[in-house]
Amino acid sequence: MSSVAVDPAFEDLLRVLFQSHHFDFSGYKRSTLVRRVRRRMDLLGISDFADYADYLEVHAEEFGLLFNTILINVTTFFRDPPAWEYLANEVIPLIVAARQDGEPIRVWSAGCASGEEAYSLAIVLCEALGADAYRERVKIYATDVDDDALERARHGTYTAKEVAAVPDELRARYFEQRSARWLFRNDLRRSVIFGRHDLFQDAPISRLDLLVSRNTLMYLTVESQVRILARLHYALNDNGYLFLGKAEMLLAHAGLFTPLELKHRIFTKIPKVSARERLLVLAQAGNRDAASHLDHLTRLRETATDAAPVAQIVVDVDGSIVGVNESARRMFGLSIRDVGRRLQDLELSYRPVELRPRIDEAHRQSHPVMMRSVERLLPNGEVQYLDVHVTTMADNGGGVLGTSISFTDVTPHHRLQNEVSHAKQELETAYEELQSTNEELETTNEELQSTVEELETTNEELQSANEELETMNEELQSTNNELQSINTELRDRTDELDAMNAFMDSVLASVHLGVVVLDADTRVRIWNGRSEDLWGLRSQEVIGEHFLTLDVGFPVEKLASSIRECIAGSDGYGNTVVEAVNRRGRNIRCRVTCSALTGVGRARHGAILTMEEIPPPE
Ligand SMILES: C[S@@+](CC[C@H](N)C(=O)[O-])C[C@H]1O[C@@H](n2cnc3c(N)ncnc32)[C@H](O)[C@@H]1O
Repeated sequence: MSSVAVDPAFEDLLRVLFQSHHFDFSGYKRSTLVRRVRRRMDLLGISDFADYADYLEVHAEEFGLLFNTILINVTTFFRDPPAWEYLANEVIPLIVAARQDGEPIRVWSAGCASGEEAYSLAIVLCEALGADAYRERVKIYATDVDDDALERARHGTYTAKEVAAVPDELRARYFEQRSARWLFRNDLRRSVIFGRHDLFQDAPISRLDLLVSRNTLMYLTVESQVRILARLHYALNDNGYLFLGKAEMLLAHAGLFTPLELKHRIFTKIPKVSARERLLVLAQAGNRDAASHLDHLTRLRETATDAAPVAQIVVDVDGSIVGVNESARRMFGLSIRDVGRRLQDLELSYRPVELRPRIDEAHRQSHPVMMRSVERLLPNGEVQYLDVHVTTMADNGGGVLGTSISFTDVTPHHRLQNEVSHAKQELETAYEELQSTNEELETTNEELQSTVEELETTNEELQSANEELETMNEELQSTNNELQSINTELRDRTDELDAMNAFMDSVLASVHLGVVVLDADTRVRIWNGRSEDLWGLRSQEVIGEHFLTLDVGFPVEKLASSIRECIAGSDGYGNTVVEAVNRRGRNIRCRVTCSALTGVGRARHGAILTMEEIPPPE
């Protein structure tokens, strides 16, 4: 697998994150890490890692968002169902059988995300033990480094879509439906203990019967996986089981665990064996001829063994070396002089692997012991992987003659397998990222949909407001039309009135009598041109004034009573002749006629006075 080139700016960013938030991302695979950090940066429009470090310093909330982006929480109930079926049908019964009745059963879901895995474990254990025994005996520790995910896990409620992965019958028995959500049964929920735990930093939970750490290690570098697997090895009981994710192969640490069912990534712990036994001597017998024949045969065998490409060492029952072939001499720097030495005096007896317990085991079981991919550190720092085969050699009667130990160099095969596994992990990681992106897309989609709905509602409101405005507009327009026609009518009337006024003015102007019209309060309403001529006041000066208070050469007080009578109701025309002084100061005689001004229904509105200069009496 090609490794991602180290980018110093990115490593600086990781250091800044460690210093400011005490979280060490350096153990995570760079490819995923860089992709996830870039995602945040793209959202913020930042292209430079150093600029992003500055941004993180100024914006306290950004770390949480980055943290959530890096820690991919993709999970489901019974993820990879065939593996869970195998666990439920084959492994859980072994765990239950290995424990006395009443003994506690301890399980750890490490990297539990939002809890689906822990509750799946609760279901399979409850199915195996029955609810009462489950409640009494089972403890499921479920941990993660992501507090938000743990918070969701503690609530134990899931959407219908999330519980869809739980078979119908189990869902009905283990969940209660609360409106749109499904709540894991509270009485069983109490045996699941959620807590924050960092696989890098915190001490592992111990004495476990089952350790489930799925799709968590694959985000880590090979070195980090090795470190954490050593801790997980410690955490398990000697007969405990390790359940990994489908892309996780454990190639990095084959010496600690051995597959129970590789396909489903279920492993058992390889316990440390301390017993030792001595090896048996390879038998040698026969007379001289036979000895010479045997010698010939022995040399033939030795030459053949020497030529074999597999390194081989033969040890007698006392533990002395009786043969080392050419490949073994080259591989371990041995020589012919080492033949006859005791195996236990050679470094080879304990490095790269403790051979003596394996020799004992092969003798005890009477069948070969195979150790696969044993790591051997070469002087140049490289790691060589060896398949070590320990075989007891027996004579025809079954008596032990000695032991053959062969070492097959499987480094190229191992490397290939490693690359395949890494490729698989990368694929799985990419797939998970895709899934998480998909989920984010779905959320964004839902948000968009709700925004669209809101917009639609707003639109509808706007539309109805618009409709209302439109109706109001129409109403206003009709009022406007009415007003316009009233206006037109008014204008016509005004024109008529103007014409009438002009007509009246011209009538009054052409009359050779002074005409004065008074209202009911005796205020002057009309004062024609002849009146101006007679008394010297222009109509503008007298209109609206009380006639009886006018200061003219005419004795207005003499007319007061006939004017009032006229206004009050007298129908007759009162003729009065008075002496007056006209506007030129000449004494004149003037005849004044007063008649009533009547309106509709003969209502009194005032009085009309006509004044006419008459000749002096003869
Ligand atoms: C992809 S989820 C796997 C969830 C579940 N185990 C499954 O397989 O469905 C990986 C989880 O590992 C957690 N994780 C990442 N680094 C961790 C660490 N250092 N210690 C503990 N958990 C970690 C993440 O927060 C995330 O919830």
